[in-house]
Order: sequence, then C-alpha cells, then structure tokens
Amino acid sequence: MSQLTIALTKGRILQETLPLLEAAGIKPLEDISKSRKLAFDTSIDNVRLLILRGSDVPTYVQFGAADLGVSGKDTLMEHGGDGLYSLVDLGIARCKLMTAAIKGMPVKQGRIKVATKYVNVARRFYAEKGRQADFIKLYGAMELAPIVGLADEIVDIVDTGNTLKANGLEARTEIASISSCLIANKASMKMKHALMQPLVDVIAEHVKADTQG
Ligand code: PRP
Repeated sequence: MSQLTIALTKGRILQETLPLLEAAGIKPLEDISKSRKLAFDTSIDNVRLLILRGSDVPTYVQFGAADLGVSGKDTLMEHGGDGLYSLVDLGIARCKLMTAAIKGMPVKQGRIKVATKYVNVARRFYAEKGRQADFIKLYGAMELAPIVGLADEIVDIVDTGNTLKANGLEARTEIASISSCLIANKASMKMKHALMQPLVDVIAEHVKADTQG
C-alpha cells in the first residue's frame, strides 16, 4: 500500500490542523507537542506526519518528500510554488505581510535598505512600487534592524502589532493578507489520487462548514 506523508509545523498550524486531520480519521499515535521526534505514525497505517520548520514545508512538498503539507501564504509566496498545488485555503493562522519603519519617520527617498526573511517577496513588491531597494536577509528579530540602523524598512508578518509597537516601529503598507493553505505535490496528486482526494475533500468540507458556521 502506498504511503501518504503530510508535512506540518509546530505551533498554531499544528494545533489548528490536527482537528481537520481527525475529521478524516487521522490521529497521531502520540502527543506531538510533547515529543522531540520529527516523524509520527498515525491511526491510519500508511499515513505519517512530519514536523518541519515552516519555511521547509513547501520544499519537502515540492520534491515529493511529503505528499501534502500545510503552509502559510507568506512562505509559499517566498518559495514561489514550483512543483506544488495550493488546494484549500484553511483560513487559519491569519495575519498580514507588511512593510514597517520607525514610527513617525518620513518615507526615505532614493535607494533604501530593507531587512527581511522574505527577500523574494520584498524584491517583487518594491520593484512593482518603483522603489529602489537593497535587501538584507535576516532569519528573525527583523524589528531590530531599523532601530540599530541596519535597514530603513522591514518586511515581516504582523498579527497583533505588539512586536512592532514594543520596538518603536509602525506598519506602513500591506503586501498580502496571509492564512495557511493545504498544499500538495503535483506528481503525488496524480499517482496517489485515490488516497489523497478523499482526504482533501474532507478537509475542504470541514473548512467550509467552519467558515459558514
Ligand atoms: C512573528 C513575526 C513578528 C511577530 C508579529 O514572529 O516575525 O515578529 O510574529 O506578531 P505580532 O504582530 O502579534 O506581535 P514569530 O513570533 O512567529 O517568530 P519568528 O520570528 O520565528 O517568525
């Protein structure tokens, strides 16, 4: 029997995806949040779950190391979407991808420095706006960059806005509205269609019922 592998990340995505999987009869055999393991068997023999860094989920799915995954649109935009389908907007882990700068600081004219972990997205965004920018790749704590003079602006996820506020920054322009999506490897969708489509249907139905209820 062929194996079905689903890539997830710890935190909100895991907490909000487990009930969707459970609706399809898939339950991890142990408590993922209490384990250091990275691969988990489930109540269905040929279905296993992988726990990855968020930014790695599209890569695992692209290359077929996972058949399905749950990934934020921010991560998918940065990845580019090669080799995968975005099947269902799950409507979970909602936030916004925004530019931000020091509060009250006038918009800097001419070439600016932008710090972000979303270098591809930022490059496209500033080019579309006709703004010249150099990009500095960071892996976290982006909010620090304008304060220490590393960058004029940042591109980052904003949820409550508390992190920006606590660091004397303000949101400027919204780049995209973000939520998490169910993604699938393109080849798997063909080769394992009989295994995957019913699961995708149950998840889509569950999400629809949630948004309507
Ligand atoms: C994200 C993001 C911001 C923060 C925004 O970081 O990078 O720092 O959340 O949330 P807020 O608007 O509610 O303050 P996260 O804590 O997910 O860690 P990360 O830097 O590893 O992405």
